[in-house]
Amino acid sequence: MAARQLPKPKELAAWLTPRRPQLDPTARRLAQAYTVHDLRRLAARRTPKAIFDYVDGSAEYELTLRRAWRLFRRVELVPQILQDVRGIDPSANFLGQTANLPWVLSPAGLTGAIRPGGEVAVARSAARFGVPYGLSQYTNTAVETVAAQAPGAHLWMGAVMPRPDQRDQAKRFFDRARQAGCDALVVTLDIDTPGSRFRDRRNGLSFPPRLSPAAIADAALHPAWWLDFLSSGPIDLPHTFLPDAAPPADPLEPSNAFQTVDDFAWLVQVWGGPVIAKGLNTAQDARLVVDAGAAAVVICTNTGRQDQGPLALRELPAAVAEVGQQVPVFLDGGVMHGIDIVAALALGAKGVFLSRAYLYGLMAGGERGVDRANELLREQLVRAMAYLGVTRLDQLKPSHIRLPRPAHA
Ligand SMILES: Cc1cc2nc3c(=O)[nH]c(=O)nc-3n(C[C@H](O)[C@H](O)[C@H](O)COP(=O)(O)O)c2cc1C
Repeated sequence: MAARQLPKPKELAAWLTPRRPQLDPTARRLAQAYTVHDLRRLAARRTPKAIFDYVDGSAEYELTLRRAWRLFRRVELVPQILQDVRGIDPSANFLGQTANLPWVLSPAGLTGAIRPGGEVAVARSAARFGVPYGLSQYTNTAVETVAAQAPGAHLWMGAVMPRPDQRDQAKRFFDRARQAGCDALVVTLDIDTPGSRFRDRRNGLSFPPRLSPAAIADAALHPAWWLDFLSSGPIDLPHTFLPDAAPPADPLEPSNAFQTVDDFAWLVQVWGGPVIAKGLNTAQDARLVVDAGAAAVVICTNTGRQDQGPLALRELPAAVAEVGQQVPVFLDGGVMHGIDIVAALALGAKGVFLSRAYLYGLMAGGERGVDRANELLREQLVRAMAYLGVTRLDQLKPSHIRLPRPAHA
């Protein structure tokens, strides 16, 4: 039996030294978020419900997003021991430029309404972490302002397809984006029929938020958000194409219903630089846009516009086999953890696009919250690389992961 003795005061002192308290409440909250889902919970507490739901919700029964999250969590990593994994380098190369980490902060419309100054906060974090930021065409802050206030940010410009009567506006918009330093255009091609987003409809979501009785009750619960919002000036959309022609009479008719691959080819030619095609789901559509001049494709899990679409992680291998020799293929949708990024890269993606992860961070703690989301993803990614015995992302192979078989029911 071990000999017993009373602890000496010196030994006790080491145990009892209090940790220096973190007095800054935002820093304290963020330090206690260990996953992006923790940031999501914080975001839900700190943001009016209608705004949180705008980010968190998706179309119809929201099955696709939940399925994407679940599929990522069911990925198994196949580890290797006794590998020299000193000096792990998680950097990637996107269209000839180095990104310190293999992701793109994907366009999110109305980021400045989710949190005033949101676009600048996201761009500054993107600069710190060395990843591109795709600014939405539905940004609340002009691209020149974002570029000026976030020096060093690598900006791409998000765009929707202009209608034929909007082509002159589109050219002027592209000029502005180019002059502000955006070196690639991220064009969203998914059909423009607004998804039926039940949460937004139930919440009566509008921008700017209307002062309905529910909004007034909510203001009492989130006074800091409302104070910030009401003191930040009106919501502006400096880059949307104004409707020259009357919008379709039938709200279900997409405003881009007439568009074909020739319109996409026009856009590629007018932009003149790399065009990244986003919002497509299959290898067949990847082939279509690559033949029309796309410099990269983003295989998406469409969560906002439609429900019950295919999951990008399942579609990725076929798309990589179809166009991966010609252009980089990215995955988009449902990325909430570094392991999700490893899974996409193991299946041949060059990187991933993600939005909700950084938007939860933004709602949870502003610019520092975006940093926290980036930091968590980086930590998780590097840890997973060490577990798999790789030091560079191009060493990732399909044999590093196991996917569950698709369920047929
Ligand atoms: C609130 C919100 C706004 C979005 N706005 C745009 C947009 O303006 N343009 C666009 O191409 N994609 C937009 N997206 C889609 C994202 O760019 C991205 O494809 C998608 O959110 C990826 O899934 P994830 O959020 O699970 O990472 C938006 C997504 C969210 C959540």
